[in-house]
Amino acid sequence: MKHDAIAVIDFGGQYAHLIATRVRDLKVLAEIRQPEDPIEMFRGYKGLIISGSPSLSAFGEDSAYTTAIYDLPVPILGFCFGHQEIAKHYGGKIIHGGREWGHTNLEITEESPVFKGLAPVEQVWMSHFDTVAEIGPDFREIGCSRLGADGEIHRYAAIEAPKLRRYGVQFHPEVDDTIHGGRMIANFVFDICGCRPTWTMGNYIDAQVAKIRERVGNGSVFLLASGGVDSTVTAVLLGRALGPDRLHLLHVDNGLMRKDESRNVLAAFQVMGLGRNLHFLDASDDFLGALAGVVEPEKKRLIIGNTFIRVFEGEARRLGIEGHLLGQGTIYPDTIETGGTKRADTIKTHHNRVPIVEEMIRQGRVIEPLADLYKVEVRELGELLGLDRDLIWKHPFPGPGLGVRLLCSDGVPDRKDFDRMAPEVRRIASKYGLVGEVLPIRSVGVKADLRSYEHPVMLSGEAAWETLLEAAGTIFREVEGINRCLWNLGPGRPAAFAPVAATVTRPRLDLLREADHRVTESLRRHGIYYDIWQCPICLVPLSLDGKGAEMVVVRPVHSERAMTAAPARLPDAVLADLRKDIPSLPGVSGLGLDITSKPPGTIEWE
Ligand code: XMP
Repeated sequence: MKHDAIAVIDFGGQYAHLIATRVRDLKVLAEIRQPEDPIEMFRGYKGLIISGSPSLSAFGEDSAYTTAIYDLPVPILGFCFGHQEIAKHYGGKIIHGGREWGHTNLEITEESPVFKGLAPVEQVWMSHFDTVAEIGPDFREIGCSRLGADGEIHRYAAIEAPKLRRYGVQFHPEVDDTIHGGRMIANFVFDICGCRPTWTMGNYIDAQVAKIRERVGNGSVFLLASGGVDSTVTAVLLGRALGPDRLHLLHVDNGLMRKDESRNVLAAFQVMGLGRNLHFLDASDDFLGALAGVVEPEKKRLIIGNTFIRVFEGEARRLGIEGHLLGQGTIYPDTIETGGTKRADTIKTHHNRVPIVEEMIRQGRVIEPLADLYKVEVRELGELLGLDRDLIWKHPFPGPGLGVRLLCSDGVPDRKDFDRMAPEVRRIASKYGLVGEVLPIRSVGVKADLRSYEHPVMLSGEAAWETLLEAAGTIFREVEGINRCLWNLGPGRPAAFAPVAATVTRPRLDLLREADHRVTESLRRHGIYYDIWQCPICLVPLSLDGKGAEMVVVRPVHSERAMTAAPARLPDAVLADLRKDIPSLPGVSGLGLDITSKPPGTIEWE
C-alpha cells in the first residue's frame, strides 16, 4: 500500500524534525527535505510544511531555495520563518522587528480550516525577530497575537490564501507550549491535505528493512555496538534485514564505560541471539593514551570519535572484513547538535559525527538506519522489535561515555569577568536567602540554539525546590556569562573554589565510576530510576575550601527528546543517600546537584 506523505522543508534548527515527528504521531508519513533539493524530490507529497529557522531572516541570502515548490498543486503551510517566506513569495512585505518570544495569545479573527475546533483565543509559542507587515492580494489575516489582555496587537500572526491553499502562522505549532498545536497540524494534514492515517512504526520497520537490504546488497555490516538502546535497536534491525551471518558486532571497552558495563553488555547480546559474530576489544589503553593531557572538551570529543574509527578499522583488518559497511546507531539529535544540517550551529561534536566519519559517509561507507529518529521513537521501535524493557528504558549514555563527564583543567583559575559577575550573583542569591558563588571553571551550554561555554554558579543554603529554581532562573536571566547552577549538597557553605590540574586518568575514571554506581543504585533502590530521563554524574577538578581535589555533580533531568530538559527533583531519601555516600569517597571535596534547565545548560557538562 502506498502511504500518503507530507514533506517538511528543513530550514534548520531543531524544528523540522519535531514537525515530522508530530505528523508521524498522526500516523501519516513525514519526510524531511532540504530547501535546495531539486523540485522532483518535492513531487508526490500530499502537502508541504516549511519549518522555522533559528538563524535565518527572510532577508538573508541563505534563504535561496527551490521556490518552484510554490507551483506545486498541493497545500503549503509555513511556520515562523516559513510563514514569512510564504507571505513574501506572494507579494507581502517583511520587516525587521516586532520581536516576540515565549508564550503569547493568538486571537483567531476569521474562520479557517487550520483552526477548526479551536477556541477564539489560544496560547501559542513565538520566537521571531522579523515580522510580516503586509500581505499579498490573495491572502487574508486569520489571526493576530497579543501578549496579555491589553498588550499590543501583532498583525498577521496567521494568514491564508484559501484559493491557493497556502497558509502561514508566525508561531510554532510543533512545540508543546503551543497548547493546541497538534490540532492545527492535524487540521492541515487531514482536512486540508486529505491524508489517510496509515503509517505506523510497524511500517517503518518494513520500510527500513527493505532500505537496508537495498543499500547493503550482497555485502555485510560491521556495527559499533555500545550496548545502549540506539546501537542495540540498530543491531536487531540490521539482524532482521540481513540475517546473523552478514552482521558483525564490535563492542569496544574504551575505558570510559560505567562500572561492569562491558561485561553486562556482552551477556545481553548473547541472550538476544546476537552472539554469533560478536567481537570484543579492550581498547582502553588506546583511548586513555590518546586523551592524555587533553583539557579542552571539543578536543576530547574529537579524539574519542577518531579513536573509535581507528580501533574499528584495525579490528576490521584483523578480522579480514575491511569491505563491510560501518554501522552506527546514530539518532537524529546526534546530527543536529553537531551542526549536521547546513543551518545548525555546532553545540557538541557527537562521537559518531567527527570529520573522519563525515568523510566515510560521503564515500558511502556508513549505514545508520535510525538517523531520522528521536530516542522516544527508537524506544517504540525497540518495543516492537521485542527488546527487553530494561534495555529499552535504560538511561541514555553518550558515546564518548565518562569522557565527557570527567572534566579536566590546567589548574589555572578562570576568573575573567568575575568582578562583574560575582557581586551580581551574590546579590540575587541573597534575595532568596542563599549564598551564591561563581565557579572558576566552565561547562558547555546552549542559548538560542547556539553553543555557550560559560561558568556555573553554586548556591548554598536551605530553600524550597521552587525557590532554588527561581533563583537559578533569575541568575540566568540577569547575569551574562552564567549557563549553569548547582545546589550545594555538601557540608557547610564553601567560599573558596580552586581548580586543580587534572586530565583523563584511570584513577579519576574509577572514582567517577564509583560515584556514578552509587547514585544509580540509590535511584533504583528508591524506585525512581525510570521516572527520570537521565542522570549524568560529573567529576569536576575543583577543590572546595582546600579540602580535596574533586567536586562531584549529580545532574538528574526530565526530558522528552533531549533537545530541552528540566532539572528533576529528587526525593529526600535519595538526597540523604547522596549526602552520605558521595562525600565519603576519597579525594571528594564537594557535592553539587545540577538544577539547570536546558537551555541554558546542556544535559552533559561537555
Ligand atoms: P546534551 O548534553 O547536548 O545531550 O544536552 C543531549 C543528549 O545527547 C547525549 N549525548 C551524546 N550521545 N554521542 C552520543 O551518542 C555524543 O557524543 C553525545 N553527547 C551528548 C546526552 O547524553 C543527552 O542524552
